[in-house]
Amino acid sequence: MDLTLGFGLNESATELVVYSAHNKTVEAKNKSTSKKTEAKPEKVLSHGHWPKELQEKFNKLKIAKDFKGEAGETLSLTMENGSVALIWGLGDKSKMTREGLRKTTANLYKAISGKYAEATIFVDGFLGKDKEESLKAMTEALLLTEYVFDRHLSVKKTPKLQKLTLATEEKKTAAKKWEAVINETQVVCKAINFARDLINESPNYLNSETYPKEVEKDAKKLKHTKIKILGRKEIQKEKMGMFLAVNAASHYDPHLVHLTYSHPKAGKNAKHIALVGKGLTFDTGGYSLKPGPSMMNMKFDMAGSAVVYAVFKAVAELELPIKLSCFLGITDNTISNHGTVPDSIVTARNGKTVKILNTDAEGRLVLGDVVDYACDYKPDVIIDVATLTGAILVALGSEVCGLFSNDDKLAHELLKSAKNSDEYMWHMPIIDEHKNDLKAIMADYKNIGSSPNGGSAKGAAFIQYFVRDGISWAHLDIAGIGDSQAHLPYCPTKGASGLVIRTLLDYVRKA
Ligand code: BES
Ligand code: ZN
Ligand code: ZN
Repeated sequence: MDLTLGFGLNESATELVVYSAHNKTVEAKNKSTSKKTEAKPEKVLSHGHWPKELQEKFNKLKIAKDFKGEAGETLSLTMENGSVALIWGLGDKSKMTREGLRKTTANLYKAISGKYAEATIFVDGFLGKDKEESLKAMTEALLLTEYVFDRHLSVKKTPKLQKLTLATEEKKTAAKKWEAVINETQVVCKAINFARDLINESPNYLNSETYPKEVEKDAKKLKHTKIKILGRKEIQKEKMGMFLAVNAASHYDPHLVHLTYSHPKAGKNAKHIALVGKGLTFDTGGYSLKPGPSMMNMKFDMAGSAVVYAVFKAVAELELPIKLSCFLGITDNTISNHGTVPDSIVTARNGKTVKILNTDAEGRLVLGDVVDYACDYKPDVIIDVATLTGAILVALGSEVCGLFSNDDKLAHELLKSAKNSDEYMWHMPIIDEHKNDLKAIMADYKNIGSSPNGGSAKGAAFIQYFVRDGISWAHLDIAGIGDSQAHLPYCPTKGASGLVIRTLLDYVRKA
């Protein structure tokens, strides 16, 4: 969809023009003064700019009496020139939130994208107090809702809507800033949709050999970016025994994609942030095989790596003046006669031995070695993102991202960025008792605790063993929020959500 900003309103230009309406609560006038009972406040229609023709048409309508601009209320009228005026109810405008605006814009897109090839939304009535911020939210909603994954469908889902103008009566002097908001949001949403494509792709297309190639092809286009990809031999040379144990049964080689972005304007004291992503292109569970229903959709077990790559891509395309590294641990977890059997003891890159009691707790094994590798580059902060545990769904539901950290300040900053991005995130504990529960008798550690209780916290505690002293670290468990966010109209009901990318971008910009 071609999305542009229009200054001034040219109503005849498109088939459809969308106007906003909202309701205001006013004190009802008490008609009979003799009545002692107080009149109830009334909800009345209120709106900003409506052209004269629309106002006149609306006034003549009988049903207009009942139209109060409630949230979800809509009315469409045909104008003299044949175009349609759609009045979109927003409810009480003073109660409208930024996320509410995102949701209503997503619903608006869904209502019009199948019916009209060209449309204009008159945005001024939609925007809240901070106009640029709400313009950004509206743009995000439009571009994220437009996303479809139809590459394997014989009939594509191309929407009718091809050209959308966001029209405003704002002074032309705002053009530069507003256009910058739209352009920047387009870059971010393109990166989010790129990650969604990777996550949604089937494992028979996207495996641990094709996935790194896709990333490399894309990363080659990025400025100030260096790419290093470690294959099986290099991973063996690095002595990543845990990573290799997960890959042991695979038909495909494992890969560690290491990207560095360093903007020349990033000051000497600029924080170096490293993002680490779990990239399991499919998780069968290995010998600790998942039952059929739990295995379905395990193609999305590489969502963490796609999310961190999307953050990296957006940072580089926006040429932000920062230093950022990105490490993707890519393999699948399958079964064959070469597979790692439970009870195996392997040596991690950091020299510690680990008893693999459950081959389905594989994400922490890959991440442990990759986090240790990332520590070599002495980042100030490491944030790993992973679909690590089913237990996070039990703890937080499928709507909330679990946050674990060894640094309360970092945790607080991430929570703030999540709030700024209207994404749900909750701070979870890391305690010594959980770490102790991961100590083994015949090896230094074991990869699961003695009881499944607190599964997500124990998974996080395991990864922390591989974070070197002095490095602030956070772990985001996205097993719940990674896909199928049906409660968010700007996310597909089924398939990759792309959540947490906006939060991480907010964080790296401010760090
Ligand atoms: N990839 C899964 C986690 C997962 C489960 C993501 C459900 C999304 C939905 C992970 O590798 C896994 O299997 N974890 C185990 C850990 C357990 C064996 C300690 C789990 O959650 O059951
Ligand atoms: Zn698993
Ligand atoms: Zn997994």
